[in-house]
Amino acid sequence: MEVQSEERTTKLLGAQTNVWNHIFSFINFMSLNCAIELGIPDIIHNYGQPMPLSQLITSLPIHPSKTSFVYRLMRMLTHSGFFSQQKLNENELEVGYVLTDASILLLKDNPLSMAPFMHAILDPALTNPWHQLPTWFNNDDPSAFHMEHGMKMWDYIALEPKLNHLFNDAMAGDTELVAKMVTDKCKGVFKGLESLVDVGGGTGTMAKAIAQSLPQIECTVFDLPHVVASLQGSANLKYVGGDMFDLIPSADAILLKEPELEYVEGCDELEVEENMEHFGGFATLKSQGGYDDEENGQILKLNENELEVGYVLTDTTQGQPLKYDTFIECNA
Ligand SMILES: C[S@@+](CC[C@H](N)C(=O)[O-])C[C@H]1O[C@@H](n2cnc3c(N)ncnc32)[C@H](O)[C@@H]1O
Repeated sequence: MEVQSEERTTKLLGAQTNVWNHIFSFINFMSLNCAIELGIPDIIHNYGQPMPLSQLITSLPIHPSKTSFVYRLMRMLTHSGFFSQQKLNENELEVGYVLTDASILLLKDNPLSMAPFMHAILDPALTNPWHQLPTWFNNDDPSAFHMEHGMKMWDYIALEPKLNHLFNDAMAGDTELVAKMVTDKCKGVFKGLESLVDVGGGTGTMAKAIAQSLPQIECTVFDLPHVVASLQGSANLKYVGGDMFDLIPSADAILLKEPELEYVEGCDELEVEENMEHFGGFATLKSQGGYDDEENGQILKLNENELEVGYVLTDTTQGQPLKYDTFIECNA
């Protein structure tokens, strides 16, 4: 009996630890956000060698009364894998901070920088709706975002130029690496295409990479007007503004990268997430009934009720999924 109750206590202690970890998990991303705001990854990078704590403290733009807290912040972020420590030299005990792969992705000048992504996701306009979640389950509002702001996320972003800019930058940084991977490793998937439209293509990071690496393909970046308004195309790349639930420019293939779907009412988000995992970051969709040609044959219509998750690229000319298997192999 006593053994049983000891086992139970041990289990409960583990459960309590789990609950603690969840309650305080916000400290992880808040600490990371703080380090980015203070410019710590860039300061360590610019130092060019393992940076002692004392040196880091003097380089930081902080109030002198806060210097003793830098160690705590760094300990936290070292534990989370954003920095590591190296001996300054063989004979000394003193250590210095160096960047890890994760913090290299947070450097401001790195084209792959995820710092804008962090800023965008932590913007109160995007985090506040999460507080509405329990209430949202009890009403018929289409989304927690809609509850908080009284409109869809994309409509809200269109009215907030700063957030629009932040969000587009965030997506661009996030997509750079995947774009490189797709154009380096998955060229076969585009074989035979003469044109492609990236629907919800943001500021065009993915389409630009494709256009550059495959100059025979005419690429169109299609996104909401406020996203593409001031963007200039190039020889085989153009920007078109519009609403994908209205009209999509025609092309041999449609590319949908990342989850406009999450915000599509009626779309099964779990299915989207499963596919995201499956494709390593690509959410994909296809119209079940094929694409309807408009009278002039130039414009294709996407009916949001017909969306189905499952394909990265769809050959709209033939209504067939395009090299689906090749793409999966590339992502495996
Ligand atoms: C999560 S972002 C993805 C951007 C880009 N595909 C990438 O992965 O970097 C979703 C994009 O879809 C666009 N979008 C949302 N609703 C849209 C609509 N109805 N028509 C066209 N674009 C839309 C947004 O403006 C945004 O740029």
